Amino acid sequence: MTRAEAEALDRDDPLAAFRERFVVDDDALIYADGNSLGRLPRETAARLHRRVDEWGSRLVRAWPDWIDLPLEVGDALAAGVLGARPGEVLVSDSTTVNLFKLASAARELRPGAIVTDAGNFPTDRYVFQGLGGVVQFETDPIDGPTPEDVAHAIDGRDVSLVSLSHVAYRSGALADLRAITAVAHEAGALVLWDLSHSAGAVPVELDASGADLAVGCTYKYLNAGPGAPSFLYVRGELQSALRSPIWGWFGQRDQFAMGPAYDPVAGIGKFLAGTPPVLDLAAVEVGVSLVAEAGILALREKSVALTELAVRLHDERLAPLGLELGSPREPERRGAHVSVRHLDAWRICRAAIERAGLVPDFRAPDSIRLGFPPLYTRFVDVWDAVERLARLVETGEYLEVDPGTSRVT
Ligand SMILES: Cc1ncc(COP(=O)(O)O)c(C=O)c1O
Repeated sequence: MTRAEAEALDRDDPLAAFRERFVVDDDALIYADGNSLGRLPRETAARLHRRVDEWGSRLVRAWPDWIDLPLEVGDALAAGVLGARPGEVLVSDSTTVNLFKLASAARELRPGAIVTDAGNFPTDRYVFQGLGGVVQFETDPIDGPTPEDVAHAIDGRDVSLVSLSHVAYRSGALADLRAITAVAHEAGALVLWDLSHSAGAVPVELDASGADLAVGCTYKYLNAGPGAPSFLYVRGELQSALRSPIWGWFGQRDQFAMGPAYDPVAGIGKFLAGTPPVLDLAAVEVGVSLVAEAGILALREKSVALTELAVRLHDERLAPLGLELGSPREPERRGAHVSVRHLDAWRICRAAIERAGLVPDFRAPDSIRLGFPPLYTRFVDVWDAVERLARLVETGEYLEVDPGTSRVT
């Protein structure tokens, strides 16, 4: 596969123009972070300025226009990205806090164990450990949790909740959301999906899949920026039965009556807690609208082509140098990133950033994640990313870099 062939794929890419909608200061830098932080959409700065100006000029008088933003942005996300109905999604708080809210609520409704896989994202596992009664099952580190793994972990137990990531953060494995949801339902458990690595990259179809609950961040494939608020989804039919563990005033029925007792609204709004991040929500609006405009099916089609190219180039260039594919080979089993494994992965990542103009990320103990968000990644970026990694390894140049330590990997 030559670079010219990759360029030809870019010429035929129907989504190619979306790259211009993002800030790309340095065209020579290959941004293949996988995916801790999406790029900045060009429109975001203006939208944030507008909201800041509203604050400056209208002061507290703007609150009537801001107060429903978590639900309004949630509806846009539901329709454009998640395959959910109006009133099923809200945007506020972090993924961690939303996981806590929904897992606690599920446990209150259906007492029993929380089942998750040992390879799930740390914050998910920690939140469940904090709630107590968690059962963690082992999975194949590359293929992630299967319906059979889940059935086996549930077997003979009273299970309240099964909670998994739709796309595994390390290997990029895409779980069978429908089949696993069905397995959990058969055992009488609710299901909570973490969509952080799939929202904006993989079609989700929450309503059609039968999923009960979901959370996900907006700073990856939804490009809403560092610290942007996360979303939560509660299937409409379940909303009246579930109670938030955080009895905050933003979930209160007549919030400004300032009444003596907590009396939550019936709908998704009961899962609001405190004041939502009004400025950040402007960035979520932009990120969601870009994904919706491109279309999740078109994005997925390009994403599969990008990761197929990465796997092919891995086989041609990286495998002979001793690297191993750390992601599933079948495209229908992968999200939008590809991991490659090497014992010295951390040092190779440092060298890529310091010497090769390539930004991947490292996930302990041995994975180099290469993320290819389809909205702005070109096929030549995949080609260049693999070539730059290969050169660092085949010349041994990566060994010249002091691996040091970093608080962020
Ligand atoms: C799968 C998954 N869940 C949760 C989080 C983080 O949650 P929070 O937004 O609370 O930091 C991440 C962050 O990368 C993630 O990848």
